[in-house]
Amino acid sequence: MERFGQLQTLTVTQEDQATVITVARPKALNALNQAVLAELDKVLDVLIADGPVKPLIITGEGSKAFVAGADIAEMAGMTPEEARKFSRYGQKVFSKLEAFPGVTIAAINGYALGGGNELAIACDVRIAAGNARFGQPEVGLGIIPGFGGTQRLARVVGMANALDLILSGRMIDAQAALRIGLVHKVIDEGKALEEALNYAKTVVKNSPFAVAQAKKAVYGLDPDLDKGMELEADLFAKCFQHPDQKEGMTAFLEKRKAAFQR
Ligand code: CAA
Repeated sequence: MERFGQLQTLTVTQEDQATVITVARPKALNALNQAVLAELDKVLDVLIADGPVKPLIITGEGSKAFVAGADIAEMAGMTPEEARKFSRYGQKVFSKLEAFPGVTIAAINGYALGGGNELAIACDVRIAAGNARFGQPEVGLGIIPGFGGTQRLARVVGMANALDLILSGRMIDAQAALRIGLVHKVIDEGKALEEALNYAKTVVKNSPFAVAQAKKAVYGLDPDLDKGMELEADLFAKCFQHPDQKEGMTAFLEKRKAAFQR
């Protein structure tokens, strides 16, 4: 699409209910090199600037892989300083994705390994095809996860499951991922994107402003409960400064569908 400039490693399509970003390096099982990260960074900036945003779906091209990790060929010759920069950049882009103001959904159509699993857990919701496989195999390559996995995975599946996956490097299937809460739903092979679009259809009707505030509150999870409650109350109050609150409540009382600002 014109407004994203020339994209070499991603495709972006606009559906009624969602924007779909597809990582498109199928010959390398959609591995994340610097070009993919830079393009994802740019596309997110454009979508955020466009606001208010629709739900965003991230998937991988083909049925074999969502994303099989950071690009090992590109990392192989990195110096420690280059590795730090690569890690920091991947972290920055994935944090931008986590902070995306709309609902983000990973449609996981195959391998989600290393940076691929880290990409999936930077999304709000994960829908996996039956052939999806998950893991953090980095220790087998002599490294550790570098795109947020050591920090984010425990927040999603708890310290015990995160340690198991990160320290063993083992792969788990979609049903095991469902059992530990790594994914929200498992669907037939080939159907992950369709199911993600269905999910987007159910959430796109909500107030985009309220969704953005809800994300800030949940990701603002604070070990200090009182501080977390303060953040919640601030964001709750902020909703009452926005026309969507009046519209949402008036529509309920008038027994009609709300027409939120888009
Ligand atoms: N980086 C670069 N290329 C990759 C890749 C990766 N992460 N994963 C797969 N590929 C390439 C392969 O090199 C191969 O290329 P060629 O055809 O040119 O040889 C092609 O994709 C197909 O892969 P395979 O032939 O290996 O396919 P397979 O079906 O035999 O195995 C697999 C599939 C089990 C996913 C295997 O490809 C694999 O183990 N990939 C690496 C997974 C991994 O270790 N990921 C973590 C990377 S480190 C990381 O992500 C760090 C971080 O947190 C930032």
